[in-house]
Amino acid sequence: MRITCILSFLILLYTTCYGQVVPDTYYDKIEGIIATNCMPCHRPGGSAPFSLTTYDDIAKRADFIGYVTKSGYMPPWRADRSFQEYKNERGLTADEINSIQNWIKNKMPKGSKPRKKNDPIALVENEKPDLILKMKDSYSIPTDGVDDYRFFNVPTNLNEEKYLRKIEFVPENKKLVHHSRLMTDTSHMVRDINGMSANDPGINKFEKYPPIDKFLYGWVPGNSAIEFPKGTGKRLFKETDLILNIHYAPNSKKNQSDQSQVNLYFTDKKTEREVYSLAIAEDNISNPPFLIKANEVKTFYSSFGPIPIDISAIGVLPHMHYIGKSFRAFAVTPDGDAINLIKIDDWDFRWQETYLFKTFQFIPKNSVILFEATFDNTIDNPENPNSPPKDITYGWNTTSEMMDLVVYYLVYQEGDKNRVNE
Ligand code: HEC
Repeated sequence: MRITCILSFLILLYTTCYGQVVPDTYYDKIEGIIATNCMPCHRPGGSAPFSLTTYDDIAKRADFIGYVTKSGYMPPWRADRSFQEYKNERGLTADEINSIQNWIKNKMPKGSKPRKKNDPIALVENEKPDLILKMKDSYSIPTDGVDDYRFFNVPTNLNEEKYLRKIEFVPENKKLVHHSRLMTDTSHMVRDINGMSANDPGINKFEKYPPIDKFLYGWVPGNSAIEFPKGTGKRLFKETDLILNIHYAPNSKKNQSDQSQVNLYFTDKKTEREVYSLAIAEDNISNPPFLIKANEVKTFYSSFGPIPIDISAIGVLPHMHYIGKSFRAFAVTPDGDAINLIKIDDWDFRWQETYLFKTFQFIPKNSVILFEATFDNTIDNPENPNSPPKDITYGWNTTSEMMDLVVYYLVYQEGDKNRVNE
């Protein structure tokens, strides 16, 4: 008995040291984890405040890295993973988190054999865009050290209708562009908002001339492009203007400017299935008015439907401003089944993005989409733009509120059920 015990212990020791198990050293494991999951933002010119590209960068912050990865704070991902799975999800596996912990416990061993240079920037494919659009002028970012929200109008001058299969936002000033939302307009009546601040009353012109698509795409650092499923495309009408809503992080340095770019990739017209978006907004709530009184925490409920046809949902984009706190959306089928869309328990205005489902979500005809959002207009909310709190209602400026859920979908086709979104 004892001999078997010792033997199996020796075998275990052997396989641990010489078997298939990859040791938790820098070159064997940690570098790869950081390259894939952290370097898209933590690199020179990236959106994060420091680089994590060399052994020294990483080893000197090891404890901090161990802490933020274990707590789930980094890489940033706001949506509840147990509620729904997404194609563009960021996150570490339990095994990867564990490897980082082991590495730190063992005093950050390098391992013996450096691998070939692992350049994450090279992972970005160099496909050629069909149309490259730059902001008309370079924008000078103010030095007053506060968040700056601006709108820019970028005409496409397309003389025919196109279908987009991929959109890519490329910030020029990677340090200061924090997030960006793309909209489309065909009225051409809002061209004078180019460069306008989101706090300028003139921005309410959008209420008179609403964008044709308020949510073409939400970009955050590290999520450079969104691609619609193979064989599908989002319609872009001819003479569309793109409207870029860009959030610049607080800045105090002189001579900071930005002239960001949007790359558009079109489909082959004959093969596309159209991607539609369904936007449910605050004017749809069942407990109006959309007013969050000072010192109040308030939840609004919205229901949309019944949906007249079978659809395949491919993604969602939730949108609120500063005092948004939590967000939950799902569809309920005529049989009473729930299809989870998105749940964010700790909303952060700085991390707004387009969430693409890992697999198509079949929503049968006559389903209803339900969504609820909670706003915290108390002094306990560190994001509250007013101190003391003031009544807040709907508006385009960031200190007002919005409550939107955009569902990107296709008309259902046979074979869509649980189709992997690729
Ligand atoms: C999508 C972009 C992005 C990715 C991916 C990302 N980070 Fe970050 N990280 C940021 C930004 C932006 C900040 C600064 C703002 C903040 O703290 O939210 C930051 C801050 C940090 C901080 C400092 C936190 C603090 O409280 O000051 C650490 C440590 C960190 N990141 C480690 C990592 C590690 C390790 C990974 C990979 C496992 C990672 N990050 C992935 C964007 C990113």
